[in-house]
Amino acid sequence: MSSNKKQASKNNLYIAGVFGYPVKHSLSPAMQNAAFRNAGLTVSYLPFEVKPEEAAFLIKKLAVLGVTGINLTVPHKEVAYKNVDFLSKEAKIFQAVNTITVKKGKLYGASTDGEGLRLGLKNEVGMEIKNKSIIILGAGGAGRSAAIYLAVKGAKRIIISNRTRNKALTAVKLIRKFAPRTAVICGPLTEDFVKKYAAGSDLIINATSLGLKPKDKPAVGSKAFRKGIVFYDMIYSPALTSTMKAAKRAGARVYNGLSMLLYQGAISWELWTGKKAPVKIMQKALLKELKNRTNKVC
Ligand code: ATR
Repeated sequence: MSSNKKQASKNNLYIAGVFGYPVKHSLSPAMQNAAFRNAGLTVSYLPFEVKPEEAAFLIKKLAVLGVTGINLTVPHKEVAYKNVDFLSKEAKIFQAVNTITVKKGKLYGASTDGEGLRLGLKNEVGMEIKNKSIIILGAGGAGRSAAIYLAVKGAKRIIISNRTRNKALTAVKLIRKFAPRTAVICGPLTEDFVKKYAAGSDLIINATSLGLKPKDKPAVGSKAFRKGIVFYDMIYSPALTSTMKAAKRAGARVYNGLSMLLYQGAISWELWTGKKAPVKIMQKALLKELKNRTNKVC
């Protein structure tokens, strides 16, 4: 029996949650609590609104507070990376932690975002990464991590399209270091640049924040896409972003980021409990929560 399972069965109580700032829009409590309930575990998975200046202190106190596991969302992934005792291979590469597991008083940091994306693409889109040519829009934290992870997982070619050239170059350097067999190209976030490579690519991923607000312009316009290409937007709310609309107009196969959210959460849950995550239950809870929020008038 793993030590965190022993701890859980001794107290018959898991304390878990998500640190974010802001955090009130997080869908993780609905998804994680459904999974804990389904497994018959007494649980409190709570949203914690943690200010950036308080994050390091609170992370260091997780073991003392008897917390089993924590997710980290924006802007705490880097501070978590710097304040855990051990790092997974992925967390070391991304220099970011989105999941902390407490075992015998020690903090283990992992990053489940990349694998969440891979499983979302596999299970929802039916696409494997190996030998694919993939265009990634954005080279911030999410775009850089996705680009490196997909390269490490065997993508044939990664094309990074970002407004700020230096950030794209950082991602290129990391891909050359960790996945030297993957071809890598970078360029501006423009319709022309993306269009040039879309013809020979399988997948375009939006990892920019453009589309989060309903009035946002698309990350790139519809001419960037081609008929039949898969477009995956990491954004899941709104469910249909401005970039997804542009991609649809061009005849692309379009998906939002809900499956990535689901699978990164499922992997976190497995790290905490040592059990297989009830993915269907978690998905149902996510969809229900989203529907409730859409129906709320104020
Ligand atoms: P995250 O951790 O979610 O990746 P981030 O690190 O702030 O957030 O990255 C946001 C991404 O969206 C970046 O690629 C950013 O481009 P820059 O590197 O040029 O900043 C992109 N982005 C945000 N607003 C944008 C805008 N108005 N036009 C173009 N790109 C934008």
